[in-house]
This record gives sequence, structure tokens and C-alpha cells, in this order.
Amino acid sequence: MNRSSQPPVPRVTRSAGARLTEPAERLDSVPGPYGKQRRKQTDSALAQDLSQMSMSGQDTLNNSSPSASAVKSSSRGGLASVARLVKLGRCKNVVVVAGAGVSTASGIPDFRTPGTGLYANLEKYNIPYPEAIFNIDYFSNDPQPFFSLAKALYPGSHHPNYIHYFIRMLHHKGLLLRVYTQNIDGLEKLCGIPDDKLVEAHGSFATAACHLCYTAYPAEEAKQAIMNDKVPICTFCAATVKPDIVFFGEDLPQKYFLNTQDFPKADLLIIMGTSLQIEPFASLVNTVRSTVPRLLLNRNAVGPFEKVPLRRADHMELGDLEETVRRFAEMLGWNDDIEELMRSQETLSLPTLISSPLSVDQTSCQSRGAPAGTETSRSRAGGQRGASSGSEETDSETDSKSSASSSQST
Ligand code: OAD
Repeated sequence: MNRSSQPPVPRVTRSAGARLTEPAERLDSVPGPYGKQRRKQTDSALAQDLSQMSMSGQDTLNNSSPSASAVKSSSRGGLASVARLVKLGRCKNVVVVAGAGVSTASGIPDFRTPGTGLYANLEKYNIPYPEAIFNIDYFSNDPQPFFSLAKALYPGSHHPNYIHYFIRMLHHKGLLLRVYTQNIDGLEKLCGIPDDKLVEAHGSFATAACHLCYTAYPAEEAKQAIMNDKVPICTFCAATVKPDIVFFGEDLPQKYFLNTQDFPKADLLIIMGTSLQIEPFASLVNTVRSTVPRLLLNRNAVGPFEKVPLRRADHMELGDLEETVRRFAEMLGWNDDIEELMRSQETLSLPTLISSPLSVDQTSCQSRGAPAGTETSRSRAGGQRGASSGSEETDSETDSKSSASSSQST
């Protein structure tokens, strides 16, 4: 397969474990063609952590560290301060960073909460460590654990909750620059946030491809195979096909690189329901300007919010996310609008998130934009097709457009 005509694309490969410390290193500022080589010094430590795949974030999850509680008390009134800024019209380019905590109110467990998180409940898959289930090398050797889990993870049985609709309301009010989500449940899309406002940084089930040569495969056929305990096989190279979830060791989608434009432009960053344990995503929060308000809404302090002192413009509100977001919406005077939006959405039939075979077929192996002459078994730019969605829209878009763009049907 000739890929030499493809333009080089930047790559960042997904990893777990250590977080970069402030001041932020711009992820896009390091020269070099490969994601892993592009990272600076800090990555050697990261790589070491990675090779051990330890659950390095566990102690940050119980909210018991002295720094976390000190920070908590210093952040009182943060929600009201940020609401005031929004009401004063000072926040017109809001970036949202989201994680699994956004979807627990929809009945989907997060990953790292002790006891209930997905990683605490994988014994039956008989894997050497929890994150192996999303490790591309492990999958290459044995796809069965992931396929068994995927049967439960495939979107279809869960609905967006109040928090998703709050994000959509940000868009509706013309304030949302972009939402960067690590979630693979597709609920942001399902609630009507349009494609060009959404970066699914860890991929989704909406498309599928060969894990070796990246030839696209009809997502619905992949789903049917997996649901029937069959292995979807690439028609080009006969390797195993998987949904386009970004596994550890794989590149993030091309659309992820919109962060280099968005974060410097943001005038408010809202971080919701994430442990900020996974790089390179976690370090994004350090790339807004230092005077830009950062609002953490989570059960516990995470990432830079674990440290004292915080940036002057940092605020956090700890507790149940849905309850916090409801209070925030009340302060903004948006609650009725959100409730109304949710009611109106319930009456519509929710679109399915699996792309039609036709649309998937249009994305060929070659069109994925792998760097010229750099294709390796791990070289992947799975989100290339999404890059075209990277328009610079910051103005309000109508909700009819939102709904239309979310209506990918089979
Ligand atoms: P985690 O499970 O690591 O973190 C979820 C965070 O949300 C934790 O800090 C929880 O305390 C918090 N949380 C959960 N429910 C909440 C609630 N109801 N109210 C308030 N806070 C709540 O999930 P992520 O940070 O999203 O990869 O994980 C990042 C990545 O790790 C995921 O994308 C996943 C995993 O490997 C894939 O999906 C392939």
C-alpha cells in the first residue's frame, strides 16, 4: 500500500501514568515525526511508569491528602465567582475537558474509582493488569478480553444526562469553543453537541478499522461480529479489526491537535469528572493562559488542583458532579432551559452512533493520513477524517444545526 503521497501529520501517542508539571510543556512544540519521540525529558519517566502500568493515581482518588483538603477550603465560592464572570459576558470561548465522571449519572461506571470503577472489576477477563484491556500490544496478541468487554461498552443502552445537556447549553448560548472528552460512550454526540464542537480524544465506537493496517471496516458489521462472539477480520490484511477506540500505545485522533489553537484562545476552562491521569490529555489543562479561570468540578482534587497554591484564577467545587452542575446552572439562570432541552430531546428518537457502512467505506486506509514513509504497526492517525471538522467557529450555532449534525443514522 502506497502511503508516500500522504502529508506528514503530527502524532501524539496515548500513554498512562505520570502527569507533566507546570509550567506546561506545549505538546506540539517538540520537533520530530513520532509521537513518542516528540515528548520531552519528562517522558522518559513517563515511559517507565507506563511500562509498569501502575495505577499511579490511586491515592489521589480518595481525597484524603492534606493538600487536597487545604485547597478545597480555599476554593469556597468558586462556582459563584465563575458564574458571575459568565453572566458578565467575560467568558465567550469556553473549553470543557471531560472524563468518565460526566457519564456516571447515566449509569456508566468510571474507570478508577475504587470498588465501582471499571478497572476494579475486570477479574473475569484474566488480564495481567487492568489497563491491559485497552493496550494495543495486548489486544494484538489476544483481542478476546477487549471484545468481551466491548459487548457491554457498545453505546445503545445509555442516555445523556443533565451534565451533557449543560455542555450543550454552553454551545446553545454561543459560549462553547470546544469540548474535549476522553469518554468513548458517545453521549456528547448523542445529546446534540455538534461534531465541530467535539473532540473525542480517545476515539469512539462510531467507526472501526484494522488494528494493523487501519483499513476502515463497516462499524455496524464489526459490532455484529463482536456481539456474536466472532472476530471481525480485515478484508485487506486479515488482521483483527477493532472499534476506533484509542488504545494505550496508539495515536490520538488528528482532531485532538485542535487543542493547540483552542487552549491559548480559551477564556474559561471547565474540567469535569476526570482523574487527569492519562497523558497526553491530562496536560492539556496546563496549556490555557495563566490568567484564565480554570474550574474543576469533580468528586476530588486532581491534577494541578492537588497542589497548593493554586493559580489565582483556579476554582474548584468538589462533590457529586450532577448536583454541582445543577447548582451552577441555577446560578446562571439556565436550569429551565436545560430541563426544557432534555424534555424536547426525550421526545425525539435518539440517533444511533454507528456510522453507516457507506460512510465508513469512504475512509480508506490511505486516507488516514499516516506520515509519509513512517508507517509502522503502531503508526496511526485515526482521527484524520475528523480534522476537517476543525473549523474556527466560536459563534452561536442554532440547535437545529446541532441536532442535524448528530443524526448519523444507519
Ligand atoms: P477516571 O475513572 O480515571 O476518573 C473519573 C473521575 O471522575 C474521578 O476523579 C472520579 O472521582 C470522578 N467522578 C466519578 N463520578 C463522579 C461523580 N458522580 N461526581 C463527581 N465526580 C465523579 O476516568 P477518566 O479520567 O475519564 O480510556 O479516565 C481517562 C481514561 O482512562 C479513559 O478515557 C479510559 C481510561 O483508560 C478509555 O476509555 C479507552
